[in-house]
Amino acid sequence: MNLIVLKIGGSAISNKNIPFSFRKDVVEHIAKELTEIHKEYNIILVHGGGSYGHPIAKAYDLSKGLYAPKKQLLGFSRTRYYMSKLNLLIIEEFIKYNLPVITIQTSSVITAKQGKIYNFYIEPIIKLLSLRMIPVMYGDVVIDEKKGITIISGDDISTYLAIKLKADKLLFGLDVDGIYSKDPSLEDSELIEILDISSFTIKGTMTKYDVTGGIFHKIEKAIEATKHGINVYFFNITKQGRLLDVINEKGTFTKLITG
Ligand code: IPE
Repeated sequence: MNLIVLKIGGSAISNKNIPFSFRKDVVEHIAKELTEIHKEYNIILVHGGGSYGHPIAKAYDLSKGLYAPKKQLLGFSRTRYYMSKLNLLIIEEFIKYNLPVITIQTSSVITAKQGKIYNFYIEPIIKLLSLRMIPVMYGDVVIDEKKGITIISGDDISTYLAIKLKADKLLFGLDVDGIYSKDPSLEDSELIEILDISSFTIKGTMTKYDVTGGIFHKIEKAIEATKHGINVYFFNITKQGRLLDVINEKGTFTKLITG
């Protein structure tokens, strides 16, 4: 059975401007659409941190590594705690829709080196998929062999798994329609429907809010997956029906191609 890896962006399931704001309505329609998709595909879900993860990780400067243990280790605990809370809220909705989801807690299966995934114990995920279950992971703080601690984003996890497990599709669910020529809030920005990675260059700056590199990091990861032959899409997961549509290559999205 073909595998789909879906990254659910934190900004789609929480409001970036309001700490700990959970968009239950969005998660509910994702759950509903996943019940259809799961009939035909194996699925791995990975969600982001949104306003549960980024503000705390930023307050404790966790992406810089461990340089002030007394303060930052508490930030490690706090980030872990709020990410677990967000994960539980999501899982609750999925279970309501009878999806056989099971969370694999990130820092207990991943260690990093210089901010990149170094060890990842994926055997439980493989086994769960063979049972037709839906493993759920999320971006989180992990132990880093060089930096002490670091943040591994959901984009890193989903790309890693898509490549390792030879996924058919890697989907990035966003709160906008896809990748734009400029900041999508600008009036003259345009949706790039087909993004040719052989001629695309990344320009721009990160937002202050995002500790894991925002859209530019997502694009880098997406390019990596595309080079491995995976079909990669960016789409608006906050809009009902778009998840089902993108699986069938219908509607509005950005698709990556290799030229
Ligand atoms: C970030 O994960 C996790 C933390 C900040 C702890 P992501 O980088 O995948 O989160 P989003 O999707 O950008 O919110």
